[in-house]
Amino acid sequence: MYAFSKAVNSMHSEDVKQLMKQASGKNLISFAGGMPNNDLFPVKQIDEIYNSLPEDVKKLCFQYGPTSGYPPLIRSLESYLKNKGLAVDDNKILITTGSLQAISIITQEFVNEGDIILTENPCFVGALTVFETFGAEIHSIPIDVNGINIEALKSKIESLDRKPKFLYVTPNYHNPAGIIYTPEKKRELLEVLSGTGIILVEDDAYSDLYFNGEEKSLTRAMKSYGVKDVEIIYTGSFSKILGPGFRLGYMLSSEEIFEKAETVKQALDACTSSFMQILANEFLAQNKLEPYLTFLRSEYLERKNMLQKYLKTYMPEEVTWNEPKGGFYVWLKLPPHIRSTDIFKESVAKGVVFVTGRTFDPASQKDDRLRLSFSNMPKDQIEKGVIILSKAIKKVLQNSKMQIS
Ligand SMILES: Cc1ncc(COP(=O)(O)O)c(C=O)c1O
Repeated sequence: MYAFSKAVNSMHSEDVKQLMKQASGKNLISFAGGMPNNDLFPVKQIDEIYNSLPEDVKKLCFQYGPTSGYPPLIRSLESYLKNKGLAVDDNKILITTGSLQAISIITQEFVNEGDIILTENPCFVGALTVFETFGAEIHSIPIDVNGINIEALKSKIESLDRKPKFLYVTPNYHNPAGIIYTPEKKRELLEVLSGTGIILVEDDAYSDLYFNGEEKSLTRAMKSYGVKDVEIIYTGSFSKILGPGFRLGYMLSSEEIFEKAETVKQALDACTSSFMQILANEFLAQNKLEPYLTFLRSEYLERKNMLQKYLKTYMPEEVTWNEPKGGFYVWLKLPPHIRSTDIFKESVAKGVVFVTGRTFDPASQKDDRLRLSFSNMPKDQIEKGVIILSKAIKKVLQNSKMQIS
């Protein structure tokens, strides 16, 4: 027996390991993977970019770089974020090794063991593993189709004897719930936090992936609202718009928070891969991102529509869901007495995987939902996958009826 640190005790880390395995499992129809399908990656564009780099920049790819990030990429990101209405000039960008690293840096910057972090319920499981690893006490607030439950948030804040260090939210095309906060909800949330000293961590990994251009304005970040008395740290990622293998993310924060974050990052990995930063910078600087996003949006819309059609055709009427308007996920709701873990056992035996609801509950309890991702699987497997899954659900429903009678 080794004397392991408390950090290895994250309840959710097994879930994540399992998830990564299932997402790429051979011979499985996988609704589990929250990532793009390999066939969607801009392989040709990146080939061209690398091959046409000047020799001295190619050499830089192999070198360490500044901890805060490759300066040309920071400049490209500044204009990308300005386009989203973010006040880049009053803030600083730190490039991170995936946005999960930004979440980890923010946690290390503010959280001592036993400190409180507020999250949504359900919550992105990667963030939960980070919060647990650093010994945070997690308190979660339910979300519905319009966003976080404001009354529940208020009473949670009032009921706590210590001030939470931050509230972590994913307002745009939530993972796993698939929802987008309404603009009213975003405003109400800022009002509740106003003057409390609770930092808002706004995770915006999916905002470019709206299906309908007219709804782009709904993705507006709370950090762009110009609210003065709420400190907001904004995080973003290249994983869903370029490829998770780039391991590129970033955080945008006030200078004071940036400086301490840079110190934490220095101790973690000194700098993010220069190779990936240079390639990503060229992608942005050569204006290749927008056309690629146009392609991705239509691809994901088509996949979402297919999944929606087959769910309507094959799912038993007890199962409900909201149709997403962007992002990667459909969050199915089961009758309260049915556990998605039981459905998982049935469906994995028949070759279909998804992610169980309890994976996203900070307490690992609530299990009446399941997450289907339409971004990753080949399109021609969607119908077959839904048929197998719906049969598994019907079987579990049937068994539960037999037990009741
Ligand atoms: C809401 C959310 N935030 C952050 C991430 C992490 O992304 P990255 O690959 O940039 O670490 C993900 C990935 O699934 C996510 O869904």
